[in-house]
Amino acid sequence: MALKLQLLAAAVVAVAASCRPGLADPAVGALPGLPVAGLAIGFYNESCPGVEDLVLAEMRAIVEKDRTLGPALLRFMFHDCLVRGCDASIMLESRSNKGEQDSDASYGLRGYDEIEQIKAKVEAACPLTVSCADIIILAARDAVYLSNGPRYAVETGRRDGTVSAKFDADNDLPPPFSNIVDLKTYFSVKGLGWKDLVVLSGSHTIGSAQCSTFASSRLYNFSGKGVQDPSLDKAYAACLREACEPGLEDDATAVALDPTSPYEFDLSYYRRVRGDKGLLLSDQALMDDRWTRGYVERMAAAASPDEFFADYAAAMTNMGRLEVLTGDSGEIRETCAAYVD
Ligand code: HEM
Repeated sequence: MALKLQLLAAAVVAVAASCRPGLADPAVGALPGLPVAGLAIGFYNESCPGVEDLVLAEMRAIVEKDRTLGPALLRFMFHDCLVRGCDASIMLESRSNKGEQDSDASYGLRGYDEIEQIKAKVEAACPLTVSCADIIILAARDAVYLSNGPRYAVETGRRDGTVSAKFDADNDLPPPFSNIVDLKTYFSVKGLGWKDLVVLSGSHTIGSAQCSTFASSRLYNFSGKGVQDPSLDKAYAACLREACEPGLEDDATAVALDPTSPYEFDLSYYRRVRGDKGLLLSDQALMDDRWTRGYVERMAAAASPDEFFADYAAAMTNMGRLEVLTGDSGEIRETCAAYVD
């Protein structure tokens, strides 16, 4: 396992190095959303006062050991929150392979062991007090911070769900080849607007995707026509073709989503998308809508990341409020993983 992770890290770096590159908003996209009863900044101030420091210390240790886990744990929050809400249902396991983890949409998702590791530390300090759902949110926040992104205040008070279904993940997570209409629909059914979409897509300023995720749709079989995506920058495409061989369906080679600065939470993702160098179709699709394109262009030209960072904090708060269980709903488990069948 350790060797596999080392290889992954090496592959990301190698590909990253070889790929170095050279309006007014409508109300529907406005941030932030409405507060949710039961969630509060500092919810554990009395019941577990050190929890946020504990999570940060553990995240620091995790990322120091393997920096690819920072992005992985940021992605983890997206996969938890979009499916049945932010309730740690992604941690539940199914013996019959019918849980969220078994969905194609969870392909390549990492961080299960690390969430469990953080939970164990938190349990030792404050037994049966802090939910796994909150730990996922705190870990994502710290992943951003440890990549030199903002350290925004996080609401806590979520409780854990007990249901996990593959078909929910199949239905609720947008595939990487989604177009802009599909992306906006996936987000809007969850109550997230175009601005949440374009801001949260900025998470792809760190981390990587495996060739099997994008090579077919972008390099070798765009729209099922056996050609390269015509909207992809030609020099970048040539570079990607070197990394991802044709015809390898399970190619796990990791390619940086933002090779300019794969572990730096910055604006270069938007500069790349503006320059037709977004890695996933869903990244490039942000240029196909006047509002999301306007935002990409503004961030690509911005001298400072301040506006993006403020928007990001608001959008992560919105996503962190999705379908949460609070008060007497749900449960606080001793471990995050549990079998549902
Ligand atoms: C807008 C729709 C989105 C789509 C279609 C999408 C899709 C993907 C895919 C396919 C990967 C690569 C998986 C792999 O090959 O291993 C990925 C990676 C990633 N995604 Fe997204 N994503 C979206 C939104 C988000 C959001 C909202 C976040 C976080 C808030 C996020 C954070 C990440 C991160 C950090 C990575 C890198 C993971 C790693 O290095 O292990 N994504 N995403």
